[in-house]
Formats: sequence, C-alpha cells, structure tokens
Amino acid sequence: MTATYLGIDVGTSGVKAMLIDENGKPIGDATAPAIEPVRPKPGWSEQNPADWWTATLNAIDALKQSHPRELAAVKGIGLSGHMHGAVLLGANDEVLRPSILWNDGRSFAECAEMEAALPNLRDLAGNIAMPGFTAPKIAWVRKHEPDTYKKIAKVLLPKAYVRLLLTGEHVEEMSDGAGTLWLDVAKRDWSDELLGVTGLTREHMPRLVEGSEVSAELKPELTTRWGMTGPVVVAGGAGDNAAAACGIGAVKPGEGFISLGTSGVLFVSNDKFRPNTEGAVHAFCHAIPNTWHQMGVILSATDSLNWLSRMTGKSQADLSGEAEAGFSGPGETIFLPYLSGERTPHNNANARGSFVGLSQSTSTAQLAQAVMEGVTFAMRDCQRVLADAGTEIGRLIAVGGGSRSQLWLKMLATNLDTEIALPADGDFGGALGSARLGLCAATGADPLEVMAMPPIRQTISPDQALKGAYSEQYARYRALYPAIEEARS
Ligand code: XUL
Repeated sequence: MTATYLGIDVGTSGVKAMLIDENGKPIGDATAPAIEPVRPKPGWSEQNPADWWTATLNAIDALKQSHPRELAAVKGIGLSGHMHGAVLLGANDEVLRPSILWNDGRSFAECAEMEAALPNLRDLAGNIAMPGFTAPKIAWVRKHEPDTYKKIAKVLLPKAYVRLLLTGEHVEEMSDGAGTLWLDVAKRDWSDELLGVTGLTREHMPRLVEGSEVSAELKPELTTRWGMTGPVVVAGGAGDNAAAACGIGAVKPGEGFISLGTSGVLFVSNDKFRPNTEGAVHAFCHAIPNTWHQMGVILSATDSLNWLSRMTGKSQADLSGEAEAGFSGPGETIFLPYLSGERTPHNNANARGSFVGLSQSTSTAQLAQAVMEGVTFAMRDCQRVLADAGTEIGRLIAVGGGSRSQLWLKMLATNLDTEIALPADGDFGGALGSARLGLCAATGADPLEVMAMPPIRQTISPDQALKGAYSEQYARYRALYPAIEEARS
C-alpha cells in the first residue's frame, strides 16, 4: 500500500477525519458529532476541549473500522479547526475552564479597554480587537476570573489542543495564530507588545510553524492504536477557513471562496498583508509561507436557518425547500442575521437579529426566504468592505452546508454579481485542505501544486432579471441596522 495522509477538521459541530492518497484524492472519511456549544448567558458560547478529543478519537477509530489498510499507511496528518477559541492550560497542561469560542461576544468591553491601553493595536495586529478573537477573551478572564487567570501557563487554540494530545507538543501555525490578536501578522511572529496588553509573554504561547511544515510527530501509542508504522508527522495545519482555501485551491492572489457554514465567510488570498480595519475586515496569514488572506466574517449563516428550524420544528432542508418552491423574487419580509452579534462590517457583539415587515399572512416559507436573503445581504456587506480595501474578487467557489441550496446560491450570485462555482461531488472543506497540508509536510511537495482546484460541477450566474429588485431590497436592509440599533440603545 502506498502512503496516505489524514486530515482532521475540528469543527464546532463535529470532527471530520479524511484520508487522501498520495495524489491528494479522497479515499474515505468519517465524522463524529461534537457536543453543541453551551450558552450560559446570552451572547456566550463555550465547549469543553475534552469533547473535541473524544470526537477526534471517535472519527479516526471509525476510519480504522472502514479503511484499516489505508489508515495504517498514513505518513502525514494535517489539522484544521474552528478559530479563535481560547483553551487555557495550567502548568500540567490541565484545562482550567471551558473554552470560550469564536462566536462568544462577552469580551466587548475588554476590546475597547485593550485598544485604549495600546493605541497602535490596530496597526500592529492589522485587525480590530473583536470579541471573537482570542486575546480579548483572556482580558475578560483576567478581570472576571482572576484565580483562573493566575494559573494560565499556556493558551492554545482548539486544533492546537488536539495536536497537544496527538503529539505531546505545544505548537501553532500562522493562519490560526493571526486570529489571536497576539501575532504580528506582517512579520509572522508573536508580538511582545500585543501579548503585553493581556499580561502574557511568549512563554504562554505555543511554538510557531508554517501550516505546510512539520510541527511534531504522532505519539507512539496512537500510531499503534491506528495500526500505523514508522514515524507519522503532524503538519502545522490551518484555521478552518485557510484550510478550506487549501481544499478548494484558493491560494494564489485573488482566488477565493464563499462559505455558508455555521458562520459565513468571504475569503480571498493575497500576496501581501492587506489590512482594512475600518470595515472590520480580517487580515490574516494564509497556511502556506509568504501568503496572506482577507476575510469578511458573519457569525450566523446556516446558524440563522438553524435557529428558524428550532423555532418552527422544521428541518433546515425542509425550510430551504419551501422557500425555493414559493420563490418569485425578494419578499416583503427582511431579516437581519445578527443572532450572535456581528463581526463584518459592524463589529458589534451586542447587535441582535430582527424580522421586519411581518403580516398575518407571512408563512414559514417566507420567513425561510427572508433568512436566506438576510444572510446573503450580510455577505454582500462583506464584499463591499473587501472592495473598499482594494480587493477584487473573481469567480467564487461555494462551500459549506448552505451551498446545498440552489436558491441560496442564486441569491448570492445575483447579489454579489459574480459567478459562483460549485465543486463536483465531494467535500472540499477543512478536512481535505488539512490532509493536503499533511501531505506537504510529510513529502516536502510544493503547496502551490498540491492545493489544486477541484472539478466544478455547476456554475451559477447572476439572475439579471432580479438584480434591480435585490439592489433596492439591499438598500432597505442596510438602512435597518442603524435605525434598529438606535432604537435599541
Ligand atoms: C473566522 C471564524 C469562524 C470560525 C468558525 O474568523 O471565527 O469562521 O473559524 O469555524
């Protein structure tokens, strides 16, 4: 059996493990569900790192059942994971408290305090202090849980915690490191000044590598558990969005994707570090050397439909199916998808969602359509601020659960006025991208060659007949946020 490679994507809703062959072709995958985030207070979101580890073992053990020979041939592993979550470890690597996640908005006040304490923070970090990022979460713990703060020996991101249990080493890579607000993103190194704002030093940080480099080796007991022989290297890997970019081949300047997952992301690769803090654009390192990327991030994409599904008792698929069946153009109901606050473009953790324009005859199908349109308009906002930063986006590849809806893709193509390409059957998310990074680390292959674009099944073009009506509806949508915020304040 020739060598194989394994990608592990630690997601908020589950862990996916994917095997690829030496040509980068997927061989098989397995997913283990994670325990849903706990929300102890409105706007908070936490998970227990131990649950990610259990799900990781379950997913790989399932591959051992379904693909024992292929799993035994693994020579390189790549990791990807949800970004920004803070895993606080004590002196013996014990977890000090549940991890505060990427969609937790509690540290809003601390963000303002951090920016006041270090006036050039935005220039150094190339990003605004947003509650989603890691550093403000530590500032919150320092203020509200000082006993826990004093015990912190290391802070890791979710996938680095899984790496610690896989290899015994504290290591992180640049794309996820950039989302902490402790990285000098241009220099690709921890910043003593940024760390100092939260009272931390380099000692509290993991060692840094590039995503396509070797970070450490798999522990011998795990190699034995999965029947692998010889050393198995673990690549740096990538934050889930940079990993998805590796999976769909968006690594050269201007190449990008749109992701409709729990969160929604508009991602574009850059040849240099290109910050635009005014528009709350995320400017991060990519997972391969000398490459950066920009992202607009909205916090509730399919999570908005998920919420409607909980409210109505109908599945997300049924809701989007009903919306599609009754669709004839923009409806009269408008939805603002700020159920977990918003990052791009508002940077407001306290923003909240709204339905506007309800009537006695509003149906569930119309609510579902409004939710899909609201998420689409939020992505249009992201495109606007990336354009303000001088970034032109060509064709976008669509990934994530929401891309299963033809109607949603049509709304996006029409509103972003761009072609949206749908990959041929298969999953081109973080698991594939991280497996590819594992291949690069183990073989020394050139990442630019390995990160190829998948075959495209379908290209969705803007619907010219709907463009005008959608531009009018988008203008109404944009007017609602300031008006509603003013009324709420
Ligand atoms: C990106 C972000 C989300 C998470 C979700 O900044 O917070 O996309 O990575 O998985």
